[in-house]
This record gives sequence, C-alpha cells and structure tokens, in this order.
Amino acid sequence: MKRRIGILISGRGSNMEALVRAAADPAYPAEVALVLSNNPDAAGLATAAAAGIPVAAIDHRTFKGDRAAHEAAMNAALVAAGVEVVCLAGYMRVLTSVLVEAWAGRLLNIHPSLLPAFPGLHTHARALEAGVAEHGCTVHLVTLGVDEGPILAQARVPVLPDDTEDSLAARVLVEEHRLYPATLAAFLGGDLHRDLPRDLPDAGRVP
Ligand code: GRF
Repeated sequence: MKRRIGILISGRGSNMEALVRAAADPAYPAEVALVLSNNPDAAGLATAAAAGIPVAAIDHRTFKGDRAAHEAAMNAALVAAGVEVVCLAGYMRVLTSVLVEAWAGRLLNIHPSLLPAFPGLHTHARALEAGVAEHGCTVHLVTLGVDEGPILAQARVPVLPDDTEDSLAARVLVEEHRLYPATLAAFLGGDLHRDLPRDLPDAGRVP
C-alpha cells in the first residue's frame, strides 16, 4: 500500500515535481496527498494542482511572526490530509519544534550540498568560493539543528573549472531530482533508518 506523503514548498517546486512524477508509478511506495506552501504565490502550487494533486497555502505573514502558530496550522492541514510522511522540497523556512517534534523520524529534506559541508543558503556560490572538487546534494531527516539531521543519501557531481553558480546549481539539480524520489522509496521500504515508527496513524500529532 502506498504511504501518503505531504510535500512542503515555498517556490519553484521542481523537487516536488520529481516526487509527483515518481509517485505516478503504481509501483512507487508513496502517493502525494498534499502539496502545502507557506507562500500562496509559489509557482509549484499551480504545477501540482495541474497534476491533480490537492494543494493548499497557509501564508506565514498572516501569523505576524508567531512561527509556532503558523506551524500548528500547517500541521493541522497535513493531519487532515491523512499525511504519514512529510518531505520538505525547497521549503524556505527554518522549522520550529512544532513541526520537527510532530513529525520526528518521518520528516525529510533535500539540501543542495554534500552535508555537513555548506549547510544553510547560497551553497553553490560557497562551494565555488571554497574551491572544492566535488559538490552535490543530500537527503536527510530533519531535526531542530538546521541541515544537521541524520543523512539518508547523497549524490555527487564534479565542480568544473569554468563553472558559474548557475551551471553548478543546474548540475546538482539534475541529481536532486533523481536522489529524492529514490531515497524516499528506500526510506519507506525500510532500507534506511529502520526506526521509522510503524504506528503511522499517530503521525502528525501536535505535541
Ligand atoms: C533545491 O535546490 C533544494 O535542494 C533546496 O531548494 C531548492 C528548491 O528548488 N532546498 P525547487 O523548489 O525544488 O525547484
């Protein structure tokens, strides 16, 4: 049976699209129950809706800085959609304990660097600046420390002599679109982090 996943986005949503494409295969172990954004203008919302996926936006600006209240509303939407596992895909807000604790062990993120190198923003520019020979992306479980959770999988790309931030980002993005669906499938299959709770009906409980 397919697990119901929720995908959180803030913008373009190309990783979300890669997950939606993978989930269209009947043999893939997940279905996308909800694409949820903090940004009502996120381009990915229209893409997901066009693919027939339920979408929702909960604008963080209407919560006037109350991040916990915003996340409680996001959490309620995920629970109402019957979500069992949450995938952050270009969700540009640092999470509080509300979502991190409610979804502990079943909250994944994709980050555009080979963690623990280059957590945070502007990873491609920082990789070029540092002169590294290899760069890439990481899928990891989310904990309270930003980009610090247990690593599930990584993909590597070479850094080429005349790379720009854009050319390097594009090379990494191709790998992101392969890595995220493959890693989610392995995670759901129990091949990674065998401590995924089996009592999934409790998922999303507000702590
Ligand atoms: C990706 O590079 C992802 O790794 C990072 O933010 C970017 C989002 O791109 N977290 P998209 O919205 O998935 O196209």
